[in-house]
Amino acid sequence: MLCNTTKVIPLWLTSIINQIPVKKQIALIAAMSENRVIGLQNRLPWHLPADWEHFWRTTAGAPFIMGRKSFEAADALLSDYKNVIISNSKNLALCSNCAQAHSVAEALQLLADEPLVFILGGAQIFKQTTHLADLIYLTIVHHHFEGDAFFPDINWTEWELVQSTIHPADERHAYVFSINIYKRIA
Ligand SMILES: NC(=O)c1ccc[n+]([C@@H]2O[C@H](COP(=O)([O-])OP(=O)(O)OC[C@H]3O[C@@H](n4cnc5c(N)ncnc54)[C@H](OP(=O)(O)O)[C@@H]3O)[C@@H](O)[C@H]2O)c1
Repeated sequence: MLCNTTKVIPLWLTSIINQIPVKKQIALIAAMSENRVIGLQNRLPWHLPADWEHFWRTTAGAPFIMGRKSFEAADALLSDYKNVIISNSKNLALCSNCAQAHSVAEALQLLADEPLVFILGGAQIFKQTTHLADLIYLTIVHHHFEGDAFFPDINWTEWELVQSTIHPADERHAYVFSINIYKRIA
């Protein structure tokens, strides 16, 4: 005889579960070359459409935090949902779903209710946030580039590589790249 194992959670328990604070996940998402370059003259030094597709798939529906220079870059990536731009400027021109914060702490405070936040860079912001991150989505472009903005030198013993996918060079991609997901373990 088949028995129905579906259990109904009582209302009083649901209300307790809903009050348990869920730890916010902070994820860095970046693309760097083998020599840790992430930018040159305020833009990406490469064009890799499949990496951008991965970026949009991964970040869909989540809020972004970025530094003012990344926000003003010609190839800036903005969330359709919420963006927090870190800057001390008094006359920052913001978009409709953008807010300004004056520090990383203030940016995270503005997104306090969000379960998952993506930090998009650039170099200054990554340097101030790697110690806060739970996850790093890191695309590695397997090539050396000239650059003026760099991903921080991470202590990888604190991280576990949970997924890595190699993308070969092809007619749309001049360079081999890998998409890697790291989870903090220490
Ligand atoms: N490959 C990638 O994944 C990736 C991702 C993003 C960006 N990038 C590249 O990275 C480069 C930009 O990086 P960047 O380091 O030059 O600039 P950034 O980190 O994007 O922005 C720096 C600006 O953020 C503000 N800021 C930083 N820390 C602050 C703090 N604690 N309090 C208040 N404001 C703060 C300041 O703005 P104010 O001067 O207005 O006060 C500062 O000038 C570009 O080349 C871009 O293309 C690459």
